[in-house]
Amino acid sequence: MTKIKILIVGTGGMAKTHVEAYREMASVDVVGGVDVNQQALTSFCDLHSIAHRFNSLEEAISWGEFDAVSNVTPDRLHYSTTMSLLTAGKHVLCEKPLATNFDEAREMADAAAAANVINMVNLSYRNVAAIQKAAEIVAQGLIGQCRHFEASYLQSWLTQPAWGDWRSDSKWLWRLSTAHGSKGVLGDIGIHILDFTCFVAGSLPRDMSCRLKTFQKAPEDQIGEYVLDANDSCAMNLELQNGAIGVISATRFASGHHNDLRLRIYGDLGGVEVRFEKAVGRVRMCVGDDINDEIWRDVEAPEVESTYQRFVEAVGRGANGVPDFAMAASLQRALDCAELSDQQGGKRIVI
Ligand SMILES: NC(=O)c1ccc[n+]([C@@H]2O[C@H](COP(=O)([O-])OP(=O)(O)OC[C@H]3O[C@@H](n4cnc5c(N)ncnc54)[C@H](O)[C@@H]3O)[C@@H](O)[C@H]2O)c1
Repeated sequence: MTKIKILIVGTGGMAKTHVEAYREMASVDVVGGVDVNQQALTSFCDLHSIAHRFNSLEEAISWGEFDAVSNVTPDRLHYSTTMSLLTAGKHVLCEKPLATNFDEAREMADAAAAANVINMVNLSYRNVAAIQKAAEIVAQGLIGQCRHFEASYLQSWLTQPAWGDWRSDSKWLWRLSTAHGSKGVLGDIGIHILDFTCFVAGSLPRDMSCRLKTFQKAPEDQIGEYVLDANDSCAMNLELQNGAIGVISATRFASGHHNDLRLRIYGDLGGVEVRFEKAVGRVRMCVGDDINDEIWRDVEAPEVESTYQRFVEAVGRGANGVPDFAMAASLQRALDCAELSDQQGGKRIVI
């Protein structure tokens, strides 16, 4: 069997999740790593026994001995790095958000389609079995026509140190600074909860209004080179193309929740609820006669393939998988509209 040769670009925190997922797959060899930070590159490649190491993507592309890439660079670099890889004809699994604005995301989707390569985005909550099950329940019509939803993504790394000290660790500081390419909580985890909601509802946003807020977190709103101006909390009010309306929020100030997601969708025949709390997914529904007695029943959710597995399979069979760049570009458009709405005092924006 010819193995698929994978290059990891950006060997920071999230790259570990990628390489560990690939290590589980017999059909894959992780052949190289790229990072501009020599120390990050060396320790990552040593730890994961990766032979070929590059300080720039250009060097890796000149070498060329790889089929596909996990792009795990910071958000602001997804566009330039991915465009170089597409030009080189490589398959790309890009981290979320695909880009930092819709124009770049659309260009990436168009370039990937023109290059005829596999292009997928790591909207990682698609890996949670409960979410896939909830989407299936809605698609089967068990809750009827979607009418209403409420969703939240709750993190608290600004109020507790479980993931390290945000005041001194660059991997948190860049997320707080627009000059370092961050779109704040909206771009970082707002994208996840937006995808989570739209995926389960089976429908993309039609219009929205949004409020974003950046709280003072340091004297002069600055730590070293990082100006802390990216949003910390967001609250969106949306209508989906299927006519359902609802609210989606995301924050880094949700004390008591390190990384929890919740979604409830109600239709004219019932409701479904998904929770991903302390890394455990659960789905329950209230449908049929149960709606008369308010009975919510847990639903079994069989394990699902991860996005990493689906990416590798897509490369192997030569046909694209989901979620792809085009889908991620649609979500990027919604994020741009959220920012625009906030800049206009929470005005409703048609997407
Ligand atoms: N899907 C998820 O659930 C999830 C979770 C965490 C992070 N992410 C995403 O993963 C990406 C990386 O996040 P992270 O937490 O690993 O950040 P990080 O800061 O820990 O790692 C990024 C790495 O990229 C390197 N880098 C910077 N410029 C580079 C370049 N030009 N070429 C190669 N490497 C370069 C940095 O030196 C660093 O080692 C971000 O886009 C983030 O949004 C996704």
